[in-house]
Amino acid sequence: MMHHNPPTADRPRPTADHRRTATGHRPTADHQRTANGQRPTADHQRTANGQRPTAYTLGLLGHPLGHSLSPVLHRAALQAVGLEGEYRLYDVPPEAAERLIPQLLDDLRGGRLHGLNVTIPYKQQVTAWVEDLTDAARGCGAVNTLYAEAGRLVGHNTDAAGFWEDARRRLPLMEAPGWQVVLLGAGGAARAVAYAALRQGWPVHVLARRLEQARALAHHFRAQGRAQVFPHPWERRTDPAAPWFTGRLPVLLVNATPVGMHPHTQASPWPEVGPWPRGAAYDLVYNPRETRFVAAARRAGLPAADGLGMLVWQAALAFQRWTGIPAREVLPAMARAVGLDLREV
Ligand SMILES: NC(=O)c1ccc[n+]([C@@H]2O[C@H](COP(=O)([O-])OP(=O)(O)OC[C@H]3O[C@@H](n4cnc5c(N)ncnc54)[C@H](OP(=O)(O)O)[C@@H]3O)[C@@H](O)[C@H]2O)c1
Repeated sequence: MMHHNPPTADRPRPTADHRRTATGHRPTADHQRTANGQRPTADHQRTANGQRPTAYTLGLLGHPLGHSLSPVLHRAALQAVGLEGEYRLYDVPPEAAERLIPQLLDDLRGGRLHGLNVTIPYKQQVTAWVEDLTDAARGCGAVNTLYAEAGRLVGHNTDAAGFWEDARRRLPLMEAPGWQVVLLGAGGAARAVAYAALRQGWPVHVLARRLEQARALAHHFRAQGRAQVFPHPWERRTDPAAPWFTGRLPVLLVNATPVGMHPHTQASPWPEVGPWPRGAAYDLVYNPRETRFVAAARRAGLPAADGLGMLVWQAALAFQRWTGIPAREVLPAMARAVGLDLREV
């Protein structure tokens, strides 16, 4: 088993449960092979010094991390492709962020860590701490995946692609030439959904309970030359004169708020009695799988999907960045690990 840096008083400590390897085996030549029996190619060598690690040290930075599914997903992926490694939780409270996060980033630059996911509350903050941002990270204004290339820290975002890969498979989005998106919430995940929709050329209506947050989202995209983002007050959801009721395009209604998530499962971001626009619904929440929002949308005749597929896709795409192994190769194992029907990915 490969150990990361010896823990010191100052270094962020992963929880003990995450110190074991994914397979429980010592590295052997066989562990270096991918699912299709091939050795990872040069593209897999995304470490600081250009060498492919014998064991991957991966992890998740955020706070709080209590119920994260990421360790389950990434350990399943490592095991499925026969790579040695581990996935740790770096639960860094905001008061320790300035001290501990730079150390983690140095570990990435120095090749002692091979990949980090980033979640609430650091997705936007880390954009300022990396040397390079990929187009997706710059476009979303948020980073959920970190790695080093030639000693430079790269911030990437797989939420947008994860949303798109899942939504287009599970909803009939290709059956109409264009859609308009109605986005409930204006936080980090909403930006990823907006980025994915705008890349399709679809207009985005964003509704937030704090109108200034919806405006800030619209401003972020307009500054990039993407003008089709329209902020609205939260109360406008069921206004019959709103473009999502009067417009020609079908509506992809997306919940990007935590409303309806366990334990508040009785709540819904959309009035259950409607009215509902014509189109489809997607809930980024995945616990429970069928939220009140998803159930009510289905009752109203809209095809609807939950966010578990997006979670699996964003993880598989992050794993691809770190190891070079195509997301498609690890998706089945990741899906199985979280109880997602393979037909759904
Ligand atoms: N499926 C996936 O792969 C995936 C990926 C990312 C996120 N998610 C889920 O997406 C949700 C949002 O995540 P995030 O990272 O964007 O969080 P975030 O940055 O905290 O944004 C949450 C948004 O929801 C709004 N909101 C919260 N409570 C609300 C309420 N009661 N009524 C109306 N609006 C409310 C927030 O407004 P205020 O700022 O005013 O509170 C904010 O606009 C979470 O449930 C998260 O688990 C899923």
